Amino acid sequence: MSPFVIVIFGATGDLAQHKLLPALFSLYKNKHLGDKFYIVGFARREFSDEAYAHMIGDELGVHKDPQWGDFAKNIYYQQGMFDEKDGYEDMIKKLNGFDQEIGACITRLFYLATPPVNYEMILENLSATKLSEGCGPAFAEATAGKQGFDKSIWTRLAIEKPFGKDIDTARALDKKLVSIFEEKQIYRVDHYLAKETVQNMIAFRFANSIFEPVWNKTHIDHVQITFAEKKGIGRRGESFDGVGMLRDVAQNHLLQLLATVAMEQPKGFSKESVRDARVNAIKAIRPIKPSEVSERVVKGQYAGYKEEGKVAADSHTDTFVAMKLFVDTDRFTGVPFYLRAGKKMAEDVVDIKIVFVQTCHLLFKEYGCPEVGNVLTIKIQPNEGIGLRVIAKDPTSPEASRGKPRLALATVDMHFSYQEEFGHKGVEAYERLLLDILAGDQMLFNRSDELESSWQLISGILKGWDENPSENVTYEVGSNGPQEANVLIEKDSRKWL
Ligand code: BG6
Repeated sequence: MSPFVIVIFGATGDLAQHKLLPALFSLYKNKHLGDKFYIVGFARREFSDEAYAHMIGDELGVHKDPQWGDFAKNIYYQQGMFDEKDGYEDMIKKLNGFDQEIGACITRLFYLATPPVNYEMILENLSATKLSEGCGPAFAEATAGKQGFDKSIWTRLAIEKPFGKDIDTARALDKKLVSIFEEKQIYRVDHYLAKETVQNMIAFRFANSIFEPVWNKTHIDHVQITFAEKKGIGRRGESFDGVGMLRDVAQNHLLQLLATVAMEQPKGFSKESVRDARVNAIKAIRPIKPSEVSERVVKGQYAGYKEEGKVAADSHTDTFVAMKLFVDTDRFTGVPFYLRAGKKMAEDVVDIKIVFVQTCHLLFKEYGCPEVGNVLTIKIQPNEGIGLRVIAKDPTSPEASRGKPRLALATVDMHFSYQEEFGHKGVEAYERLLLDILAGDQMLFNRSDELESSWQLISGILKGWDENPSENVTYEVGSNGPQEANVLIEKDSRKWL
């Protein structure tokens, strides 16, 4: 890989410490980063380069790792306030120093890993100091007036979700972004797109010819998508409170998971074809009117949330959300998609369950059939893999009686596990994303129309909640969420599986 520099804004935050730096270290250990690279942490607190690297080493518990020392030599720190130019100007000197060391203009990746409230001021300062233009003023001069000069080779910007707070703020942020960077320089991150099991959906659905004929409203009864975490908000009170699960997880990860099930076959394997297919699926989701919200959406908060650090004592923030959606395409019209996401739940699990129509064949009617028959489970995590529940004759069924044959049906699971098959669960999502950004591949990143469509849907729900703020229900820590989420699906004579 060619030399590069990655500047992480929000270098002392959760994302930098728990996702980005571990991913970079792992890429380094697996020899994916090349010989020359520079990681610059940018944040408000004072640190020397060494102290920052040491703090990261502590946080990751890797000081004893024999490769940590060499890796840490590539870590630098820049103190700065996001809204003041000084830090950015000092950083120019630092970055120019790296260019001089290499003897060339090297690729710069600015990674916005701060709470979203800082995005606009960071973008403004990147633009005001011309950091957005590659190798600072020298670069601007060298390229002035040159038509078709490809800036994306030198400067890239990665921006984390949540991208905006609603449709209007998302649009405003995007406007700012595209006024400073060209589309091909922008990487809007949703790390769920880079999970191996999510990427595999295209291969699974379209390379196995047995699934396509049944992947439709005739054969699929409904789809369930579950995103459950045992952890609460931890130290994220400041950035989570007022944001909530709907914006933090549903607007992005859950809708992307839905899109993998609902999308049509992409025209090709190019970045735009795949992104078109995703966008079309999200656009086809039937909007929820504010007046329908109380019937189709459940908003919950775990008991004790208001006592968490940096959370408002009267907070209405959702730590759980469940909803029923419809995708109005020929393939799926009328098939409900039930989605739920929650913190402080009974277990850590993210999966998609495709529940097929269950008809009890005439042959078995008098012996009884299982209530739920075939279910295809895409296990996003943990135990990454795919399971298929099928019906089998139960060999333990009682002896024949009163002249009838011995026969009972049971459901059994067939499964594929990444770990068992490949000895590996796939490349970690942030490693994949960083590699793709550095390679200039935007397929696994959101395009702005994708975000626009998902925010359209989510904004309708937010509006419904605004109009009726008492929607929040409390649920017990370690449970499966509020009872209301069960009612949401049970009133359709179905259950969460
Ligand atoms: C993030 C959310 O995008 O995804 C967090 O902001 C959530 O709230 C996290 O915990 C889950 O990611 P993963 O990869 O650990 O499932």
